[in-house]
Amino acid sequence: MADLISIDKQYVANTYNRFQIELVKGKGSHIVDINGKEYIDMGTGIGVTAFGFADDEWAAAVSKQAATLQHTSNLYYTEPCAKLAKVLCEKTGLKKVFFSNSGAEANECAIKVARKWAAENKGDDCYTIVTLENSFHGRTITTLAATGQEHYHEHFKPLTNGFIHTPANDIETLKNTVKSNNIAAVMIECVQGEGGVIALDADFVKAVGILAKEYNFLIIIDEVQTGNGRTGKLYAYMNYDISPDIVTTAKGLGGGLPIGAAMLGERVESVLGFGDHGSTYGGNPVCCAGALTVINRLTDELLNEVKAKSRYIFNELNGADGIEYVSGMGLMIGIKTTKPAVEVVKSAMEKGVLCLTAKDKVRLLPALNIPFDDLKNAIDIIKEVAK
Ligand SMILES: Cc1ncc(COP(=O)(O)O)c(C=O)c1O
Repeated sequence: MADLISIDKQYVANTYNRFQIELVKGKGSHIVDINGKEYIDMGTGIGVTAFGFADDEWAAAVSKQAATLQHTSNLYYTEPCAKLAKVLCEKTGLKKVFFSNSGAEANECAIKVARKWAAENKGDDCYTIVTLENSFHGRTITTLAATGQEHYHEHFKPLTNGFIHTPANDIETLKNTVKSNNIAAVMIECVQGEGGVIALDADFVKAVGILAKEYNFLIIIDEVQTGNGRTGKLYAYMNYDISPDIVTTAKGLGGGLPIGAAMLGERVESVLGFGDHGSTYGGNPVCCAGALTVINRLTDELLNEVKAKSRYIFNELNGADGIEYVSGMGLMIGIKTTKPAVEVVKSAMEKGVLCLTAKDKVRLLPALNIPFDDLKNAIDIIKEVAK
């Protein structure tokens, strides 16, 4: 492993502060390192492996598609892409899907759609998009501009213009902002993930919908982290009283392969025309074949299971020693511990549980189908190390 670390350090760009473990194989919610040590996984590669590692159904669909036709370009039709778009539209009521390779690119597409829609419907000077303070929308120059956290902006200015950030859950400020600016769209995460796993207030989300009607702007919901069953509904906005025009997603949709999607509602389904947008890999048949197995398994039964596991986690952790409070929704959980979050994550790792952090919290994003026994063992260890 020492060898591998030195190769990685020499040749891979220094953007990641990796833990000193090399992971070699996984099955379900278990993952094994190079020394044979086994861990219960509570992070799913930051919300990606929705049905765990090497899930049989996902792996079979991906392998079959890879051995049949791995890529064609978007000059031709392929079945997995069309089928995935159809099932996403049928399940959400949205009308069309643009496929990308990541969450940031899904958001780039949403921003382009909003700008073109606004130019056509409200005039060329209407391009401003309101996002929330403490949000996270990606790492490209434009999605960084959308991200309402100043520290991500450092070193990369000038960013794309046309973004205003207002405080989450502050209806008055949002109202004044959309009143005094010509707004193309408001973009929100219903649960701010990187911002510390904080669910927006129901009243605030409802107000976004009311203001959108009053001031004629689009609603974009960033479901990159919250989407695909994570919060106990297919998409997190379904927990709220709001009808988005554009929903973006990625992460869990692919189950472990890179795919993003910008789902377009009725008002914007025809905004993009030939040549307006594109991506070489977008709608890749292998990624789409895997994603189809994810989406098709997000049944009511599975989503109820997600909610039951969520209740278990909240009940176990709320009021436990060393735990100040628990936030989030479904299997997207933030834990404010008395000890620094990184310390808790490291101790949990030593005891065989992999967790994440989000700001000053321990963050849990376990597989949606994590067996109850594994969940219980992991939560027991987290409680023990948080004390
Ligand atoms: C809400 C949200 N939007 C966008 C992104 C960016 O996604 P990606 O890393 O796939 O570009 C993330 C990643 O964490 C996210 O949580």
